[in-house]
Amino acid sequence: MGEQIVAALICQSLSHPLDTRQNCIVFFTVDTEQFCLVLKEGEDMNESITTQRLHGKNVVVIGGSKGVGRAIVAAAHAEGAQVLAVARQEEPLRKLVAAFPAVQMLRLDATDESAPAKVFATLSPDVLVVCAGAIPHAAPLGEQSWEQFSRNWNSDVKMSLFFSQAALTTPLPAGTTIILISSGAAIGGSPLSGGYSGSKRTQMFVANYAQQEADRLHLGLRFLALAPGGMMPETELGKTAVEAYASSLGLSATDFIKRRGLSQTPEQVANAVVEFASHPSSREGNVFLVSAKGIEAIS
Ligand SMILES: NC(=O)c1ccc[n+]([C@@H]2O[C@H](COP(=O)([O-])OP(=O)(O)OC[C@H]3O[C@@H](n4cnc5c(N)ncnc54)[C@H](OP(=O)(O)O)[C@@H]3O)[C@@H](O)[C@H]2O)c1
Repeated sequence: MGEQIVAALICQSLSHPLDTRQNCIVFFTVDTEQFCLVLKEGEDMNESITTQRLHGKNVVVIGGSKGVGRAIVAAAHAEGAQVLAVARQEEPLRKLVAAFPAVQMLRLDATDESAPAKVFATLSPDVLVVCAGAIPHAAPLGEQSWEQFSRNWNSDVKMSLFFSQAALTTPLPAGTTIILISSGAAIGGSPLSGGYSGSKRTQMFVANYAQQEADRLHLGLRFLALAPGGMMPETELGKTAVEAYASSLGLSATDFIKRRGLSQTPEQVANAVVEFASHPSSREGNVFLVSAKGIEAIS
């Protein structure tokens, strides 16, 4: 619907004409779309209409204090959601809430079996994003101990399993979307990251298996795995990976990034999450690659 038509509809439906000599905010719904009209003193109404795609939704981001998770928190907040950010360390969470005072925070280790119940008791999610992940131990295969090799299995896979199981068994209300953040390494491999790629592939399987289980039980849940395709040096994890691969090739991090070409940014991943969160069934499939080119179904 064109913005001018929407503006005309508001004018018709308001009993008092808007006084643009003052600041004002109007929330309204047309069909199922939520709109937020922010009029600043003296502004043209037609330039001020914005849609809030997650207005009225509760969004929980596991691993929301830093990196990609923080970008998802910011995007969901900007789209009008009530957001809960979950992570272990207090300081980054406090900084996040200082930047976004309406965002709630919860400190816990998401690999703990009791974590899902604590999270759901704090904010019942319409959209649950499991974004947290360990920074893989960067070393060639021959130098990895089992503890180092399996780090992401005991973190990324463990929390994806616990939260997906809890979504199925609680169960979360019909219509809830559960998004696991995987990685393009699940497809192409990552030889300096031990068991990282395999663990990120397993997150894709978890999303698929959970969807089959949800469908069998008629729970009305939507499970997705989103795989950011390239390394994102903007985050701690991405920076570590870029430095490891650059040094193995005898390159500087800057030259390595130039050679690899354009990667998606954390903000582009966050936009993809918002797109799936606001229109969960707009695309068929459960596993998607998010690259600088856009979103592509994998399975
Ligand atoms: N960056 C990349 O290049 C890239 C590429 C493809 C896929 N990914 C995937 O994207 C996701 C996010 O990566 P990122 O680069 O944003 O990582 P990051 O910058 O290291 O941030 C990780 C976030 O997860 C939290 N976290 C880690 N372990 C946790 C646990 N056990 N319980 C609760 N919170 C935990 C961290 O906070 P605390 O440490 O305070 O808990 C932090 O908020 C990961 O799943 C990663 O595999 C990243």
